[in-house]
Formats: sequence, structure tokens, C-alpha cells
Amino acid sequence: MSIWQTYFAQRVVFRIRESPLLSLPCPYSTRNIMRIPTDPSALLAVRGEIIHFIDDPAERGAGACVHFPDGLLLVRDGHVLNCGPTAELEPALPVDACRIDYSGKLILPGFIDTHIHCAQTEIIASHGEQLTVWLEKYAWPAEAHYADPAYAAAGAGFFCDQLLRHGTTTAMVFTTVHPVCTDALFEAAHVRRMRMIAGKVLMDRNGPESLRDTSAEGDAQSRALIEKWHGRERLAYAVTPRFAPTSTEEQMRRAGRLFGEIPGVYLQTHLAEQRAEVAWAMWLYPGTRSYLDIYERFGQLGTRSVFAHCIWLDDKDRHRMATRGAAISFCPTSNLFLGSGLFDLARAHDFGLRVGLGSDVGAGTSFSMLQTLNEAYKVLRLAGQTLTPEAGFYLATLGGARALHLDAHIGNFLPGREADFIVLDPRATKLLEARISHTTTLAERLFVLMMLGDDRCVAATYVMGDPAF
Ligand code: GUN
Ligand code: ZN
Repeated sequence: MSIWQTYFAQRVVFRIRESPLLSLPCPYSTRNIMRIPTDPSALLAVRGEIIHFIDDPAERGAGACVHFPDGLLLVRDGHVLNCGPTAELEPALPVDACRIDYSGKLILPGFIDTHIHCAQTEIIASHGEQLTVWLEKYAWPAEAHYADPAYAAAGAGFFCDQLLRHGTTTAMVFTTVHPVCTDALFEAAHVRRMRMIAGKVLMDRNGPESLRDTSAEGDAQSRALIEKWHGRERLAYAVTPRFAPTSTEEQMRRAGRLFGEIPGVYLQTHLAEQRAEVAWAMWLYPGTRSYLDIYERFGQLGTRSVFAHCIWLDDKDRHRMATRGAAISFCPTSNLFLGSGLFDLARAHDFGLRVGLGSDVGAGTSFSMLQTLNEAYKVLRLAGQTLTPEAGFYLATLGGARALHLDAHIGNFLPGREADFIVLDPRATKLLEARISHTTTLAERLFVLMMLGDDRCVAATYVMGDPAF
């Protein structure tokens, strides 16, 4: 039995076991519930230690972080109504409000993963090698399975559930070259009501035949997927050339045209991950000034372009990216795993670049944004920089939302934002409990969480105000 068949079988059992719950008016865990809402517009009041960011701590300092040690998050119709100290908000709560008490736990906006591959879950933590060998040996054979709609549906469901159990409520996702895989991913995100940006991989050269399209096919398939999914509730499409070396000039041209043509569509790709990859790209596209220049020449550098890695850039590249409003996805676990290099966050900040955090599973070694922050901290230490816990949690929430131009919708708890939030248990393990008992400040506790935390700390994940994990 493949892992997806096993998963499918378990889901069926799970669904059957779960099914009686579907007739209940409110699916919240009874453990924490004092009152169950009977209609979707009922007020939900979630109590706990609330932390969110209204700006970048690197720019705004302490004023960027909003912290209510004993707070209430008020949610109605899937959106944040307000948040503040319990002592202030509680007296005005209507008697029929649905109260959920997470006292002793932290409530934060859902994490945002700005770069991940849904069809590489199965090969996460495959041993060693540099990028191109790793792609050929592990990533591409795994992606080939997603030509099968049933396999893709099961894989996409498992992937979304992994995101949710790790506290990630929004992601920017590479699917595979197969439209059925993109359909499966959007479908899985849609039923879970997650915010998701995704796109079919464009790849018409330098890859295995089973994973190659043609420039005309890739263009037509992307257009059909945009028509079907882009702008549908919380979903958006990203034109997805895998990276310059696996697309012909014709495919790159069409991808740039499509990106420029349709309002709100994103573009995602890989850039300057490894030195050998940069040399390969420059050799394939002679006459270009830099690897970034290739994307720019084909109309792929703009607001809503998100480039993963960006390790081997020069300042001219950084300047071009900043002036065009492009964003970087910093993928530390992947960069260490493949030995790609150390991302220079301070230099990106010097140029005012938008930066989000990416897991880059399967080259990345964890779905957890906490574990991703752990490695980010170490990457920056090796580069003589530091990552304060505030800057780290900003990156994983509002920073990611800003990188994806979604900060009007998600990333913090300002009134009107979509109510994607997570509940973190800072005492989820014996070790955490011991360590947390020796902390005194919020910054210390956040730092412990980002160094020692993982999915075991995610006590609950809520999407649009509803429990999703
Ligand atoms: N560059 C091109 N494709 C990939 C991929 O799947 N993973 C990583 N890490 N880099 C890439
Ligand atoms: Zn990647």
C-alpha cells in the first residue's frame, strides 16, 4: 500500500467516525467550550495570551508588537471584530457569545509559508546531494506520481492537513506540471477554506519527459486553471516557471505575458539558490547581466513576483527587485539541507525588500514555521547577523502577508482581518515546560518557542474563525 492509499484509508475511517459531529451546530472541541454558537454570525470570544504585529519590529521597534497577556480575540462571520485585554472586553460581551478559553496558551495569527512544494511531501528528508542531483533523484520522481488524479487528490489533502497541524493557514505552493495536481490542491484548500496561492509548474526542457509540457500547452493549461480558480473565494493563481533553466525562451516569454495580462495573478519561481545553478542559468541565457536579469527580460519581475532563495544576488539585483516590488522567500531549512548558502537578510532589509519565510518542503526539512525560524536564526548567526524573536514571528505572520500583498486580509488581528489564528502551547513538552519556567519576558518565551517548538506546540488552528485542526 502506498502512503497515500494508507492515508486515504485512514481518512475514510476518520470521516466515518467524525460524521455524527457534522449534525452538531458547532464543531468546537467541547473541552474548552462554555457556550456553543447556533448560527455562523454568533460572536466568538477566544481568550488567551494574544500576540500580533502591526508593523515590522526592525522598523517600528517595540511598537510593532501588540501583546495582551490576558486577552480576548473577538470573531464574527469569520473575521476579526476586535482584540484587547479581557478585563476591558469581557464586561461588554453578549451573554450568548461563544467563549473558548485558552488561558496559559498563546494566540497568534496563522503562519504564512511563502514557498513550498505540495508534491514533495513524500520525499522530505531524502539524503543529501546538491540541487540538480536531488531534483533528479528524489523530487522529480515524486512529482511524476501526481499525474494520477486519485493520487493527487489524496496527496493534496494530506499536504493541506500537514500545513494546518503545523499552524500554517496560508501558503504559496508549487504543484507539478500536471493540471490535475493543481486542481487537487485548490480543491483541498477550498474545502478547508484556506488562503492559498498556487500554480502549475511550467517546465518544457531539461527535465524528465513525464514532467515536461510544451510552451503552448503550459500556457493553455495555466490559462484554464486561472479561469477556474483565480479569485475564487480565498484562492489565487501563480504563474509558475520552475526556474529559468527548465524553461525555453518561448515558455519564459509566454509566462511573462500571462503574468502581466491578468490582474492579481502572481508569479513564483526559484532564483539564485546555488552557485552552480546560477552559472547554468547564465550559460543557457547568454547576454544576460545576472540570473535575475533573465526573469526581468521576460517580464517576470514585478509586484506579486515571489522568488525563492535569492542567496547569490548582487546589490544591483536587490535594487531591481525592490524598485519592482518583488518579494523574496527565505527558505533556511532548505538552504542548509542542500548546502546552498546563507541568505543575507540584513542586505535585503537595506534595500527595503519584502521578505517572507518559506519551508520549501521537500528540500526544506520541516512544515513547521517554528522549526524554520530555528534554522533562520542559525543561518543569520553564521552570517554575523541576528534574528530577534519579534522579527522572527513578524516574518512568519505579517511579513509573509506583506510579501504576498495579502496584509489587508491576513497576518494580524486588526479589525476586519480574516480570522486565521493558532493556539500555541509553550509547555507542550517536558523540556519546553522546564525551559519556559525559567523565562520572564515575552521575548524570551517567543525565542524558546522558535528554537524548541514544532507541531507539538500547535494546540489548535482556526481558519476563518472555525477550528481546522
Ligand atoms: N529549483 C528548481 N526546482 C526546485 C525545487 O523543486 N526545489 C528547490 N529547492 N529548488 C528548485
Ligand atoms: Zn522550491
